[in-house]
Amino acid sequence: PREPKIAPSLLSADFARLADETARVASADWLHFDVMDAHFVPNLTFGLPVMKAVQAVSPVPLDCHLMIEDPERWAPEYAEAGARNVTVHAEACTDPRGVARDIRAAGALAGLALKPGTPLEDHLDVLVDFDTLLVMSVEPGFGGQSFISDVLTKVRTARRLVDAGDLTLIVEIDGGINADTIEQAAEAGVDMFVAGSAVYGADDPDKAIAALREQAAA
Ligand code: DX5
Ligand code: ZN
Repeated sequence: PREPKIAPSLLSADFARLADETARVASADWLHFDVMDAHFVPNLTFGLPVMKAVQAVSPVPLDCHLMIEDPERWAPEYAEAGARNVTVHAEACTDPRGVARDIRAAGALAGLALKPGTPLEDHLDVLVDFDTLLVMSVEPGFGGQSFISDVLTKVRTARRLVDAGDLTLIVEIDGGINADTIEQAAEAGVDMFVAGSAVYGADDPDKAIAALREQAAA
């Protein structure tokens, strides 16, 4: 069986204490870093300078989720700065295969993200150049929203293609993952679970990570 991986989202952390907040999730597999530009999504978070500062102190590799326009311009810089994975949105890319190549050339894994309403079928042809598929299970922009279970159809399709050997992808889900929703996502075939409020909203984030991992493995 697959080993479930957990990526806490720093979006739900206390931004005034970022170093401490990375240390509180030291048992995580990746630390999810949500970059928003107030154009691609109606919210603004942090960018490259903050990413570099967090990267320097984080015990966990960074998983950068770029919810921005013109990802071609910025994605390689996150890879060069040392991110483990850099994910761009299919809806924002003019040349997804080109961005994937640039991210990989700069030393990171390349991820493609799909908003809840974006069909997987429209982007199947480019996935051969990506390492990660991020299926959004809420509309991107904010933490703490409820899980949209319809997107699990995309997870199942991706899982089937990976298991058949047609693609090599880490299947990641992002949005509304918590104790009530993680089991259905695991059953559909997710490898990497992003969880913001469910981890940082807990008294002990590391314990919450262990509990989610256990639930996903069951
Ligand atoms: C939403 C972000 C998510 C968010 C998830 O646009 O991409 O990563 O932090 O937060 P929760 O787990 O609270 O839904
Ligand atoms: Zn995210």
